[in-house]
Amino acid sequence: MQALPRAAALALAVAAALCGGAAAQTPPLKVGLMLPYTGTYAALGDMIEKGFKLYVQEQGGKLGGREIQYFKVDDESEPSKAIDNANKLVKRDQVDVLVGTVHSGVALAMARVAKENNTLLIVPNAGAGDITGAQCAPNIFRSSFSNWQPGYGSGVVAAGKGYKRAITITWSYAAGAEAVKGFTEGFEKGGGKVIKDLSLPFPNVEFQALLTEIAAQKPDVVFAFFAGGGAPKFLKDYDAAGLKKSIPFIASGFVTDGTLEAAGPSGQGVLTTLHYADNIDTPRNNAFRKSFALAYKANADVYAVQGYDAAQMLGIGLSAVKGDFAKREALQAAMAKAVIDSPRGKFSLSRQHNPVQDIFLREAKGMNNEFRSVAVKALADPGRGCKM
Ligand code: BEZ
Repeated sequence: MQALPRAAALALAVAAALCGGAAAQTPPLKVGLMLPYTGTYAALGDMIEKGFKLYVQEQGGKLGGREIQYFKVDDESEPSKAIDNANKLVKRDQVDVLVGTVHSGVALAMARVAKENNTLLIVPNAGAGDITGAQCAPNIFRSSFSNWQPGYGSGVVAAGKGYKRAITITWSYAAGAEAVKGFTEGFEKGGGKVIKDLSLPFPNVEFQALLTEIAAQKPDVVFAFFAGGGAPKFLKDYDAAGLKKSIPFIASGFVTDGTLEAAGPSGQGVLTTLHYADNIDTPRNNAFRKSFALAYKANADVYAVQGYDAAQMLGIGLSAVKGDFAKREALQAAMAKAVIDSPRGKFSLSRQHNPVQDIFLREAKGMNNEFRSVAVKALADPGRGCKM
């Protein structure tokens, strides 16, 4: 090999040092995961984190060429601590992106902090309508659903089955109230009537008095919203009260997602509506479930899908600006017009940044929520109150 002249070799060495130095100076993108790691929704937070990290791992640990550094806060699904918790990530840790959370009340506070600080926020579960409604903003995105969407789907299915009188039962906070609103809209549009709304404070599981009321009223159908640790208790109590075999039941899919093992026989055969079904037989969903099972020795659920898709959305934005997070407008514009290749099926975002997606009717069989039919095609949340 011919030796390089001394000056050329020196110039090359300087260039290499400069390039290497510049690359080494590009800091990782800081992602703040604000999720419940304790309490009723702990398992949901865990699955969201696993899904998010799985997508990043599949991209070689980088999004848009940037390494990802994680910061974590347990929000305990506690709205009263939400502003402080979000500020731990935004002000103390100086994260670039906030990802969270599960509980609607906590997520609404996160949206306020994100808006005040112009921090990019991706909501990987909480369905509060206002996040992509009255509180919508160019820097706020959701990879999951609005509470209204699966509730509306249940209403359409229940009316389609010819039921006329319904009772609803849920936790009395934004998620439950909005799911009931969606159900009522879908059901009453189809000719049904909601005769009574029953509720108890989150995360209480003393359902007995309310179940006695349902038994006394004998409606044609019961609609419910429960999730996480409270859901299997509800299914067991509904069954033990003799209602599973006497009064038809339908719910937003969270009641059986990730809860079937704990619910035992009381969960079997339960009909729900949601934007995901475990056995969607597409190469995309099959590959995702295989990859998730390999990585975590566990089956994916809807929460894992939403975490995975939150990372995909961020990846699309970062790739559009070649990892240059300072180009925020271009990054957000790319996210807003993205088509996300989700395990649930491809979806795009509404003008208010909420997924426009099919709502499936599912039936719980074994440990899976199996696809039965498309209850509502390409359902968009109304996004009421959004001025963007
Ligand atoms: C919510 O608070 O928005 C929520 C929590 C669990 C499952 C679905 C929605």
